[in-house]
Amino acid sequence: MLRIQNLYKTFNKDTVNENKLFQGLSLNVKKGDFITVIGSNGAGKSTLLNIISGTIPCDEGSIFLNEKDISNIPEHKISKLVGRVFQDPKMATSPSMTVLENMSMALNKNKLFGFSWGIERKKINEIKNSLSKLSLGLENKLEVKVGLLSGGQRQAMALLMATISNPCLLLLDEHMAALDPNTSEIIAQLTDKIVTDSKITTLMVTHNLKQAISMGNRLIMMHRGRIILDIEGEEKKSLTPERLMVLFSDKEKSDMLSDRLMLA
Ligand SMILES: Nc1ncnc2c1ncn2[C@@H]1O[C@H](COP(=O)(O)OP(=O)(O)OP(=O)(O)O)[C@@H](O)[C@H]1O
Ligand SMILES: [Mg+2]
Repeated sequence: MLRIQNLYKTFNKDTVNENKLFQGLSLNVKKGDFITVIGSNGAGKSTLLNIISGTIPCDEGSIFLNEKDISNIPEHKISKLVGRVFQDPKMATSPSMTVLENMSMALNKNKLFGFSWGIERKKINEIKNSLSKLSLGLENKLEVKVGLLSGGQRQAMALLMATISNPCLLLLDEHMAALDPNTSEIIAQLTDKIVTDSKITTLMVTHNLKQAISMGNRLIMMHRGRIILDIEGEEKKSLTPERLMVLFSDKEKSDMLSDRLMLA
């Protein structure tokens, strides 16, 4: 469904700050996979999501989404196929517009002529129905400006907005990290519900090991631009955060050893 083949990306090429991040990264994602992505700071998790969604170009390699090569497609075209939610609840929603206006913009994303400001009656019901699934009472706050909502409410809306026009892929980049523990749990449950109900193929980056284990059907761990662990099914279910930490430090040690051997 999503095939990433032999991806290369170097930042600041030919400067003292050169960073050869991806050197032949490949990943195959099956239709309906819900993959949690963990890894150290700077491992390349956000860059991978940015490359998939066309925000930054890769140097080499290809990305196929439903057998269509999207490696050189502009970001605004990919955004019709790929929904995204970021860490900052302010990113996805427009604060000066109402709940209804924000939702209407998201709903019209896939229309030929872009979004329209006129909101049709039947669309209002569709929007109300989707909002009621969040169980946050937002269906009764259609005329409220989104800037007045809490971070959790905005992030719940962001999730809904990212998925309402049925994209083929959902990319979540630490979308629960800025929320307090209770709200984070509510958004985790909502994420599970939305992804399960719509069966949307999803990559979710998180630093929360418990959520990485309990959510989704497959888990990958990234380190220094590589996928160092890829676990699914029963094996994933039986993981613990402690076991993940051990696996990570084992891989890190073997990485350091091979670096030393290369230098010797
Ligand atoms: N636009 C950019 N220009 C230069 N370097 C960049 C750019 N974007 C990312 N990098 C570098 O690439 C590396 C990977 O960054 P990335 O943001 O993908 O990491 P991450 O795994 O998402 O980390 P975190 O867990 O901290 O969010 C880092 O060393 C970062 O400094
Ligand atoms: Mg990141």
